Amino acid sequence: MGWLAILIAYLLGSISVSTLMVKAVKKVDIRNYGSGNAGATNTLRLLGWKYGVLVLLLDAFKGVLAVWIANLLGHGQPIYDYLSGLSVILGHNWPLYFGFRGGKGIATTIGVFLCLLPLATLISGFIAIVIIFMTRYVSLGAIVFVVLSPIFLALLSHKTGALLFASIAAVLAIIRHRENLIRLVQGRERKLFDHHA
Ligand code: G3P
Repeated sequence: MGWLAILIAYLLGSISVSTLMVKAVKKVDIRNYGSGNAGATNTLRLLGWKYGVLVLLLDAFKGVLAVWIANLLGHGQPIYDYLSGLSVILGHNWPLYFGFRGGKGIATTIGVFLCLLPLATLISGFIAIVIIFMTRYVSLGAIVFVVLSPIFLALLSHKTGALLFASIAAVLAIIRHRENLIRLVQGRERKLFDHHA
């Protein structure tokens, strides 16, 4: 039944909360505005911080739910937790119901990481939040978060499977942020609450 959990995770991840939310409130496709990304940050740009936070929480909840289902159907075997974790992130990034055009997976990754590597997530999450507040670059905070999480995990535990999973998720997130990375290097990245962004 563990394989069913992986499939359910992908279908769950495919529910693009930001696309649905922005469509419902503003009657537009979030993917045509701002960064074009279907995620919490771009929702914040379009609808304000309350909706941004709501999308962040709901997208993170998809990750939590996917791991919970994997635990249930996979009878606690870690391999199903990790594969379902990756699957829900893949669904978020390439959603089945939205033409495979989704987000960058950070909020969902936070949800999955919180379940599977809680302490490393909290430490790297705290550092990422400080960076976001200091620089107003959400993407920079997101990249720092995914890079630091496996590093802290390696320092804090010897779970090889979890480390491999977290490293793959980190590489995936970095690949999804390649345009942000280029903009950051060129000094053209959008800043949070910058109305010209
Ligand atoms: O998680 C997405 C965030 O890191 C960047 O979002 O819209 O600025 O590309 P965005």
